[in-house]
Amino acid sequence: MYYFGVDLGTSAMKVLLVDETGAVKGSTSHAYPLIFPHPGWSEQEPAEWWNALKVCVKKLLEGIDPSQVAGLAVAGQMHGLVTLDKDDEVIRPAILWNDGRTADETDYLNTVIGKKKLSELTANIAFAGFTAPKILWMQKNEPERFARIEKIMLPKDYINYMLTGVHACDYSDASGMLLMDVEHKTWSKEMLEICGVRAEQMPGLYESYEVIGTVKPEIAKELGLPETCKVVAGAGDNAAAAVGTGVVGQGGCNISLGTSGTIFISSENFGVDPNNALHAFAHADGGYHLMGCMLSAASCNKWFCDEILKTTDYAAEQVDITEDKLGNNRVFFLPYLMGERSPINDTDARGTFIGLSMDTTRSDMVQAVLEGVSFAIRDSFEVAKSLGIPIERSKLCGGGAKSPLWRTMLANILNITLDIPQTEEGPGYGGAILAMVGCGLYPTVQACTDALVKTTKSIAPDPALASRYEKKYQQFKEIYPSTKNLFKILR
Ligand code: XUL
Repeated sequence: MYYFGVDLGTSAMKVLLVDETGAVKGSTSHAYPLIFPHPGWSEQEPAEWWNALKVCVKKLLEGIDPSQVAGLAVAGQMHGLVTLDKDDEVIRPAILWNDGRTADETDYLNTVIGKKKLSELTANIAFAGFTAPKILWMQKNEPERFARIEKIMLPKDYINYMLTGVHACDYSDASGMLLMDVEHKTWSKEMLEICGVRAEQMPGLYESYEVIGTVKPEIAKELGLPETCKVVAGAGDNAAAAVGTGVVGQGGCNISLGTSGTIFISSENFGVDPNNALHAFAHADGGYHLMGCMLSAASCNKWFCDEILKTTDYAAEQVDITEDKLGNNRVFFLPYLMGERSPINDTDARGTFIGLSMDTTRSDMVQAVLEGVSFAIRDSFEVAKSLGIPIERSKLCGGGAKSPLWRTMLANILNITLDIPQTEEGPGYGGAILAMVGCGLYPTVQACTDALVKTTKSIAPDPALASRYEKKYQQFKEIYPSTKNLFKILR
């Protein structure tokens, strides 16, 4: 039998076709545009995602017996607000996880409703990218559109709805809406009220590995899928990536260097960061996790290479960054191109190079970008350490993880061993695993990851390099506090 693992990413949809032994039998992707209507705003058309899914599924079905496709699960970019009217038409482009327009609404939630109350109700405070502030923004700025909302959903749930007609969401993704009582896994009535949302506008809640329905006959026909193909609830992309890299159960860690950069710590039990710097969310294995999320990670390197250096050969840009240069760069970069979420929670922060001189080279700047992202991951890592969470090693996935240089920098900046899983496509592979569990191939997510997820390579830190990077991190830490107020003036 076959299982589709769909990664609804920010720049593209990536789909894996996996067989029952866990082998990846096919993979394909389809890119779609991001819309930036204003600086700091970020939107996408749900129709683009649906089109991408159709293109990818049809392509992967070529050459296999479609009747053998047992199930599908989507791992989706989190927090995006998708709204449908009474005719199931999308009301406006989705407002994405890295959109910073809701500074006022976030401020209202955190100060007027209050962080303490938000944390009691949802285990989290408001961040600009979360869904609840976006709902408040729409209510205030687009009242006619707001009045037409019949259904509220997250990006992956739009795909699931198009496939099955079932309005569903899983606990891991729902956690990032700031509308769910994460500990008890129910919608928070108080939060819905605060955001002017009726319970019937919200999706039904499921575990990530539960089946929500089967593909509608007309859609099955259009895509070439069997009508028996089960659609499993799926997960937020970070929870799915953790499943895909085997970070389930107690105390595992996964770092993702994708468009966003995340550090994800799995836990069997519910727990909250007392300062709410890390998100406290449900995990796709039935447990919970803590997570720090930076808004621009591999996207900083993509931006610098594509837009500034005008090249797509990222590896060539890293050739001159030889071993002796590591830990010795005088140029620093703050990676806040879309503002920042964890741990500084500042929508006004912006990307910054500092320390340039006449002898600064192109590769010093590329190095600063890669290091700046790694230092910013270290910021969230430090928060986790301050909570007494011991992290000695972590899995690493995402597009950035393909660069051997970046892996070395990160292992030494964090001073931990990084394990590279056989399948680097974390969210897609996690989606396929959730589909297998939903279809009954394995009794639990953990049983499935124990059987299928393998590490191929480990990168250990080098004490001398880790110590050079420690000094550099201490310098990096000084930059944001000194520029924080400037960002407000420059806004
Ligand atoms: C997590 C987050 C991002 C998106 C990116 O909180 O906002 O990692 O899920 O896809």
